[in-house]
Amino acid sequence: MTAVTALDLPEFDYLAPDLTGAVYHERLAAVAAQGWLARAPLGFVVLERAAGEFFLRSRHTAFPGREIAEFFGVRGGRLADHIDANILNLSGDVHRRLRKLVGPAFTPHAADRWRPTMREFLARIGADIGPSTSCEFVATVAKPYASLMISTVLGASEDDAPRLHEWSNWIQKQFDVKALSTELPRIEEALDEAYAYVETLLARHRSEPVDDLVGALLAAEDEGAGLSHDECVNLVLNVLAGGVDTTQSQLAHGIRLFAEHPDQWALLRDRPELVDQAVAEILRLEPITPFTARICVAPIEYRDVTFPENTILAICAERANREPPDGNDFDITAERDTRVLTFGAGTHYCLGANLARAELAEALTYLATRMPELTLDGTPEATGVEGIYGMHSLPVRWSWPSAQ
Ligand code: HEM
Repeated sequence: MTAVTALDLPEFDYLAPDLTGAVYHERLAAVAAQGWLARAPLGFVVLERAAGEFFLRSRHTAFPGREIAEFFGVRGGRLADHIDANILNLSGDVHRRLRKLVGPAFTPHAADRWRPTMREFLARIGADIGPSTSCEFVATVAKPYASLMISTVLGASEDDAPRLHEWSNWIQKQFDVKALSTELPRIEEALDEAYAYVETLLARHRSEPVDDLVGALLAAEDEGAGLSHDECVNLVLNVLAGGVDTTQSQLAHGIRLFAEHPDQWALLRDRPELVDQAVAEILRLEPITPFTARICVAPIEYRDVTFPENTILAICAERANREPPDGNDFDITAERDTRVLTFGAGTHYCLGANLARAELAEALTYLATRMPELTLDGTPEATGVEGIYGMHSLPVRWSWPSAQ
């Protein structure tokens, strides 16, 4: 057994300033060609699916939200409190109890109940585009769609969607190691505003009960089902924060992939029954969560290597999802292993995965006919990959086939 610290490993810097787009994929491919593990800032990065799944599912690991924040100087204060209360940073019985309470609102069936609303929002966004045959996709489609959906799921007013979007963006920066050191005051301000908003939302739901996620959480609080008021507020906030930037970014990257592969877009239009495979393929090839993380809470032995307690591991979904033989291809008809790591794995597997898949499926179905013959209309601008891998802008244009 060799200690991981004694291994001669390649280095991978996920904080490198130029890590985005093609450079990011090339650099990861080069380091993964040397083995399944590399040294990285704060610890190590796991570059293979089986190993990634092992650490994500291990009983001896936890999400290192607090440790990473402390490393970047976040000790005490609003963000530290929020990180401690975030469901992602909880373990064991407390985590199991919360997942059990909130889980029924996120089953595939529950997600399907939102599909008519998704279609309504898409039709409205399509009507706003009007006869134009080009747009900047992020601002015109991805952002309003994701924000309208989360405001509806939370039973908030549609007029609040832009505010919810902004808060979600800032709060999600708790996972962006660069922003933790440079943007802390703005993140904390957003948290203050969002916490106050959620309290008002809960008070309104209490006086006008609705059969939705927030209604179910309030009932759990009232009926002594083991949910404290603070836990209730934090769960709503976790859903709000986790449910906007993620879907927006995944849809934008997905549309970019299709704009770069017109044959696949045409195929989806001709065969709409392929939509679930199309969703799976964009989630696989361009995961907007390129890395999730774990800390060893006890020594772990794996493949003749010892990982001491407190070792921090970044788990790379991007490499895990692209394993050979044809992992770099974009093909919505390919028969693939569906166990991608984009939503993580194990007890913290993304709570919103069914909702996200349904939102993406509805959007792709609608857009394949609304924006046929889609192409890029300029250079897409992606963000860095250290938190959510998003897109700043995605100029696209489309045209109607002459046979129409
Ligand atoms: C494409 C969209 C999305 C992606 C790629 C994504 C990805 C992830 C990942 C990687 C994790 C951590 C899993 C782990 O470390 O094992 C996670 C957790 C979580 N996600 Fe998502 N997510 C998405 C959409 C959503 C949506 C729409 C919501 C809410 C409506 C949501 C709410 C959450 C919550 C609450 C957790 C924490 C779960 C727990 O700790 O038990 N996510 N997500």
